[in-house]
Amino acid sequence: MKIVSSEMKNVLPTAHLKILNAAVDLSQQMDTDLYLVGGCVRDIMLGLNESEFDIDLTGSSIDRGFATTLAEKLNGAVTSSSVFGTHKLSVPVGLDNNLEIDLARCRSETYKNPGALPDVDSGDIFQDLDRRDFSIAAMCIVLRSPKNQGWQYGQLIDPHCGYDDLINKQLRVLHKNSFIDDPTRMFRLIRYSCRLGFDIEESTRKTFESSVNWVTNISGDRVRHELEKIFEEKEVGLILYTCVKLGLLPAFFTELSCDHLKEFRDMLYSDSLDQDRVEFWLGLFAINADKTQLEYLSQTLNLSSKQNNVINDLCALNEQLKQNEESLVADNLKRSDIYKFLLGYNLTAIRICAATTSNKSIKTLLEIYLNSLINTNLYLSGEDLISLGMSKGPEIGELLNDLLYAKLDGQLESADQEIQFVKDHIFNLKDGINLD
Ligand code: CTP
Repeated sequence: MKIVSSEMKNVLPTAHLKILNAAVDLSQQMDTDLYLVGGCVRDIMLGLNESEFDIDLTGSSIDRGFATTLAEKLNGAVTSSSVFGTHKLSVPVGLDNNLEIDLARCRSETYKNPGALPDVDSGDIFQDLDRRDFSIAAMCIVLRSPKNQGWQYGQLIDPHCGYDDLINKQLRVLHKNSFIDDPTRMFRLIRYSCRLGFDIEESTRKTFESSVNWVTNISGDRVRHELEKIFEEKEVGLILYTCVKLGLLPAFFTELSCDHLKEFRDMLYSDSLDQDRVEFWLGLFAINADKTQLEYLSQTLNLSSKQNNVINDLCALNEQLKQNEESLVADNLKRSDIYKFLLGYNLTAIRICAATTSNKSIKTLLEIYLNSLINTNLYLSGEDLISLGMSKGPEIGELLNDLLYAKLDGQLESADQEIQFVKDHIFNLKDGINLD
């Protein structure tokens, strides 16, 4: 019997332990069994505090009441619920932090068709562990013991020897149909292997190799969802590299070569991508694509209009960069020329080009645009131009553009210089009228 309550104490912050205590108290009142399951057990055993809590309970009619009462007790909220008895809770831990908790009924799953979503039924904790992907995810920690089991708080239940696999740093599926039942698990295998630095156990690798073509059985939405999870990982470049190397992405994208993704092996998660992370990485899939392949990528992954905009702009920009390469690297190129050339292209598409082009001069000018030119603002506004004597109309916009170009080219440094530029312009206009 392995009791891991001291590992829990060492790894989990006090606020998290308090949450578990509150859940245990409630399980006593409601007379349900309670287990910590999945990724958080794996992480506790690895000495990491990186996961949200996944908590399973038994009893098919109490989950909703349990979720709402626990959320209330902890001053949190149930943020979503599903008909399968799973609830997401968000509870405050500290001033600015919330801990997400997934609360679910123990369940069993059966797959009627490869790649389809499973049929779900309620089950016991062993059935719940049996339905999981890898041995290291098929362990649980008892929070409240079932009456007839004699288990205690903190006891590790490990029917598939996941702890040994953790120690040996390897990923192992529970049975040889695992990837056929659910081919998304092949993406998960590579994701965890790269995240944790774990090997793929030999028979699991063979199972992977013989199952890889089943990936075409899953919907584009599910594959995109798996890719989105990969884009959130620190070792994103390495994961994509491995997905190509092990034949998973090539098996799925039959009409699009993914070989070039191997070049981005060393690219890591970057905070700066923020809201455009998914578009950036999806764009990398498209850097060498022609129109037909773009269409294929878009349809296969059911891309959103934001995502389509990026890949379409990327393709157009790549084409323009190729066509204008000579003039873009010329010595007399002005900063305003760079601005005029790139204005209107999607910024994420420009970022992708900057990150991937092998032409150093082009890379530099794309970076100048992203890091400096787009952040250049005038002191004067259209209103100011009218106050200085310009009449309302399209000339205002044109003059603002001329001002900006002059500023980008270093001709205007202060507000006074901008005012002088406008005055000179108005004088020249009047001069023109006088001459007429
Ligand atoms: N699971 C599975 N097959 C899938 C997806 C999930 O068997 N295709 C199981 C896994 O065993 C996992 C659990 O469902 O433990 C919850 O999945 P998820 O929340 O995606 O992963 P975590 O294990 O919590 O790991 P992490 O959040 O660190 O990725």
